[in-house]
Amino acid sequence: FMSAQEKVDPFSLVADELQVVANRLRSMVTAEVPVLAMAAEYFFKLGVEGKRFRPMVLLLMSTSLMTSPSHGLQDLIFDDLRLRQQRIAEITEMIHVASLLHDDVLDHADTRRGISSLNHVMGNKLAVLAGDFLLARASVALASLRNTEVVELLSQVLEHLVTGEIMQLSVEDKDMSNMDYYMQKTFYKTASLMANSCKAIAVLAGQPEDVALLAFNYGRHLGLAYQLVDDALDYTGTTKTLGKPALSDLGQGIVTAPVLFALKEFPEMSKLIQRKFKTVTDINQAVEMVKESRGIAQTHALAAEHARKAVDAIANLPPNPSLHVQQCRRALIDIAHQVITRSK
Ligand code: FPP
Ligand code: MG
Ligand code: MG
Repeated sequence: FMSAQEKVDPFSLVADELQVVANRLRSMVTAEVPVLAMAAEYFFKLGVEGKRFRPMVLLLMSTSLMTSPSHGLQDLIFDDLRLRQQRIAEITEMIHVASLLHDDVLDHADTRRGISSLNHVMGNKLAVLAGDFLLARASVALASLRNTEVVELLSQVLEHLVTGEIMQLSVEDKDMSNMDYYMQKTFYKTASLMANSCKAIAVLAGQPEDVALLAFNYGRHLGLAYQLVDDALDYTGTTKTLGKPALSDLGQGIVTAPVLFALKEFPEMSKLIQRKFKTVTDINQAVEMVKESRGIAQTHALAAEHARKAVDAIANLPPNPSLHVQQCRRALIDIAHQVITRSK
């Protein structure tokens, strides 16, 4: 017998179902033309599926919002609503991978998930087209749900991803050192996908608007916390521990939270920001200032604040006595804690 207070590995609660989702994903990305098939399948292959973080969160959210307490674990995997929510998990993962394929082209990244990036293996043209292909397949799957509100939510995510990327790529001088601009960009770039896909889970379940908003807020704050930690890890991690290039933001002239906080202690950072860390010396000086300052610690503190708000959203869900529902809510809370303590 287990109580809801007992710690359960969040992943293990949905591990079997994630396997089902991963298998279906592999079948959703097959293409007629061999070279496209190879490119589209690249990050769905066994061993490089990544942490499947988003699908895990979405399946746990699905159970967390269940209103009927009688559900057992097994019958729920075949439940019609559950199948539709699994589809959201699949679509979300496809959008995520598509954005990574495009991102690695934009960032000239040569590694991802510990292997060569697709652009590095097959070139930019194929990587871009493979990303487009995944978005197309995601769109077909989305339409098949026959729910226009859900289509609207996830289409808006695509708009946000592009907006966030553009905000990062072409910052006007006046916005360069602005924390609000950075947080808005971060919402678009990372948190919108989490927020809107969590909300889509609630909408498919026919949940009232206040509950859908709690789901949205969980995803939003979790996504913000996740990206803040990611931006700190860019300074504290290595290519080996991250499976992708470290110190990559500065090299691209990108200002993230650690730099913005360091700027408050080192006004000299300002001129480096303005000239986008053009030289190796600029980069080294900026890294030095970030590490000398409380920038990393303050970034973690801000991440922790968002993680707490994510936890609040779950705590404010309507009470539900079902042990399984409580375990999944507990898992979502644990995930918020894990996000701010992760090192890769
Ligand atoms: C990773 O950021 C990138 C994203 C989360 C979004 C990228 C979005 C685009 C490229 C716009 C195109 C959008 C679609 C829908 C295809 P990062 O470079 O900071 O993270 P990394 O360290 O993982 O590379
Ligand atoms: Mg990148
Ligand atoms: Mg990028």
